[in-house]
Parts: sequence; structure tokens; C-alpha cells
Amino acid sequence: MSAANINLAEIVAADIGHHFHPFTDHKAFHLEGGPRVITHAKGVWIFDANGQKYLDAMSGLWCVNIGYGRKELADAAYRQMLDLPYYNTFFKTTTVPATRLAESVASVLPERFRQVFFVNDGSEANDTMVRFVRHYWSLKGKPYRSHFIARRRGYHGSTMVSASLGGMDSMHGQGGLPLPGFHHVLQPNAYEFGGDLTPDEFGLMAAAEVEKKILEVGPDNVAAFIGEPIQGAGGVIIPPPSYWPAVEKICRKYGILIVADEVICGFGRTGRWWGFETMGFNPDIVIMAKGLSSGYQPIGAMAVADHVIAEFFDKGGEFFHGYTYSGHPVAAAVALENIRIMKDEKLVEQGAKIAPYLKSAIAGLADHPLVGEVRSMGLIGAFELVRNKATRERFEPVSRVGLLCRDHCFRNGLIMRACWDTMVFAPPLIIDRAEIDHWMVLTRKALDLTLEDVRGEMG
Ligand SMILES: Cc1ncc(COP(=O)(O)O)c(C=O)c1O
Repeated sequence: MSAANINLAEIVAADIGHHFHPFTDHKAFHLEGGPRVITHAKGVWIFDANGQKYLDAMSGLWCVNIGYGRKELADAAYRQMLDLPYYNTFFKTTTVPATRLAESVASVLPERFRQVFFVNDGSEANDTMVRFVRHYWSLKGKPYRSHFIARRRGYHGSTMVSASLGGMDSMHGQGGLPLPGFHHVLQPNAYEFGGDLTPDEFGLMAAAEVEKKILEVGPDNVAAFIGEPIQGAGGVIIPPPSYWPAVEKICRKYGILIVADEVICGFGRTGRWWGFETMGFNPDIVIMAKGLSSGYQPIGAMAVADHVIAEFFDKGGEFFHGYTYSGHPVAAAVALENIRIMKDEKLVEQGAKIAPYLKSAIAGLADHPLVGEVRSMGLIGAFELVRNKATRERFEPVSRVGLLCRDHCFRNGLIMRACWDTMVFAPPLIIDRAEIDHWMVLTRKALDLTLEDVRGEMG
């Protein structure tokens, strides 16, 4: 729907009247006059009901990897809805798109991943994984292996279990989380915690924290370690190259499963199909959502390596788990078309090819007085806002300056997100050089305006 077709005042009033939004301070939302209404999008651009155009350097919520406005995906949904709008995949039944999608997902994973379980989003994928892994250890006669180790500031979703896996204090502060059996270790953020260590020394130190936690919980009690190859919502934490191989070695030493949460990193985000390929480790289970359908339909999945799934095939017995919409035919048809486009148009390669251009463009921001560090891998990255570049000192209170900068971006037609005082980005893989140039002009403007706001506080 284009901006011309809506009555904005009416939509805003209805939204305030009836729509309880996720991740929102509802009092502030009402005081500030309600929502920004997004009406349509094309490529890397989104448009609001006032006709303002924004460069979406976040791909929505890190998900619209192929960019907005691909008619082929709409056609796939339309055709599937006419043929078969719904049927389930319980009780030895399937639909053609669900089966074809499982095959297609397996085709872009390493060969050992041949079995794919469908869910509706990343949170459900992680909930599914926890039930699956605990049942796996029961089948192996070790039901006491039920604990999970994850990282602080990891993000794995918003359900009770996935938020317990996550390491977000703000989320744990609501609803009595984490649930028992979920443990968190230091995130491999060299800028924040590396001090004088070289990145690789710090990576090994952060990996050693995983081993420490395993020993504390008891190696025989630990079911799995889960991590995003690059932590997204935690502030785009790109671990030093030494980190993941060391974590892998530790997990193998104690027979602990490794789960790669690829909800953000998967489907080309880091320059290869999977973040574990970029970061150099070999998971046993892969969690995906977002880029699986480029956000055009809600769908997620858990892919399991042969040596793990073998337990289910050998021992048998029903796995009492699934969702009404597991492998929903319309979502599956759309995801299938998304992967076809990504393969045929070589979008992963295209993203990898433009990535160095983006890297050097953002490197150009490093001379700005507010910018403490810039970093990126493929088409995901961040820059730090600091009060003092030499000492890496932050502004007080935390998050204030990040939000100032984010709002200046918004007002000037750019969408980036602030994770505390870290500005993060993850543009569609189809972004081109001219769009990156335009994005950098807007970023510098937002930084300059933010600097005006805080000039008196600079260290
Ligand atoms: C790494 C990661 N895992 C899981 C999730 C949860 O996915 P969803 O919001 O689709 O439930 C997210 C969402 O941002 C994520 O970034």
C-alpha cells in the first residue's frame, strides 16, 4: 500500500488504541505520538506514510537479505495459496514445498546436515533445539546432560527458553529468567574487554572462559554450547580468529554439542552462506530463520548433523514436538523461491564482493571524534561511539548517545540501530556502491549532529 492510500491520523490513532508493540516502552510511545508507519519498500529503500524515504541499513531486523520488492516471492506465495494454502507436516504427511525446502536447505549446508526441522521463527528454532538436544542425550542414556552454555549479550530469541539461552540482562530482569540450566560466559568482545591483549590472545582467553564454565557446571552435565558466529544484537561482536576454533576444541574435549545460531549470520550475511564457515568451526546443529525467507514469510529451521540425528533414527520413539505451522506450505514456497534467487543470482557472492567497498567506506568514519572503532565482516558491522577515543571511555548514561545518533539517522533518512552505544548495520546483500556512498554521507551527518549534542562532554 503506498502512502497515498492511507489515512495516517486514523492509523496512528488505531495503533495507539489497540496495538501493543514488541520491545517498546509503552508510556514513552504514547507520549511521543505513536508509530512511524512504513508503507512500502523497494531494494534497500523503505518509505513511510509521510512519503519519507529511508536507506534501510538494517535489512528490517537483519532479515531482508535479498532486498525488498521481489515479485517472484509474492508470486510463489500467491500460487501456493491457490493450490494449497495450508496443510500440516505431522503424522507422516508432507506438502511439496515443505519437502523441497528441506532438500534446498540441505543443499546449501555442508553434506553432513541432511535433516531439517521447520518452525516459524528463530525463537521457536532455539526452543526446538533445547528440547531436541535434551531428548538426544536421554536417548544416549545421559539425561543429566541438560545444561546449556551461552554468551552474555548473546541473543537467541524472546520466548522463555530462547531468552534464557540469550544473555541479555534486561530480558532476564523480566519474567524470572534465565530458567534453571542456562549459563552464560564472557562475550568475545575485544574492544570492550581485550585491554592490552592482542586480539588472538583475547580470543583464547574468552574461549578459556567457556572451559571454566564447563568445569564449574560439571562436564557430564553440559548438553551443548550455543553461539552466534558473530553476535548481532549484542552489538555485532566479531570474535578474534582464535576464538571459535578454540571453543570447538574445548567442546570436543568434553563431548559437548555445538549449536551455531545462524539466524542473523546465515544466508550470506558474513560473506559466505554460513557464519560458521566464515569463523572457522564445525557445528553439530544449525539454527536459522530471517534470511531463510529474507523476511518475506515467517519461517525458521533447525538443521541437524547425521551423527546426532542417527540417535533418533536408531532408537526410534516419537519426538513429541512440532507446531501447527511447521513447514507451512506458503512460507516454505516463499523460502524456496528465496533460496533459488540467492543461488541463481549468486547473491552471497555479490554480497561478498561489495563487502570490501563497505569496509573501506566505514573505515573512513574512524577519524570522526565520536567513533572509537569500526568493524565489519561481510555485510554486518558496527562502530562504537565513545567520549574518549584513546581510553575507549563511554558516555553516561549508557545508551543515551547511541539513541541520539540513531534518531539523527532516522530524521535524515537512514536506518541504523543502536545497541547501547554501538551503532550496528546489516544492509541487504544487493546494496550497491552508490547506495553505500549515500549511506556514508548520511552517517557522517548523523555523527556530526550527535557531536553537536554532546560536544561539551567530550573527554
Ligand atoms: C541470533 C538470533 N537468534 C534468534 C533470534 C530470534 O529470532 P525471532 O525473532 O525470529 O524469533 C534472533 C532475532 O533477532 C537472532 O538475532
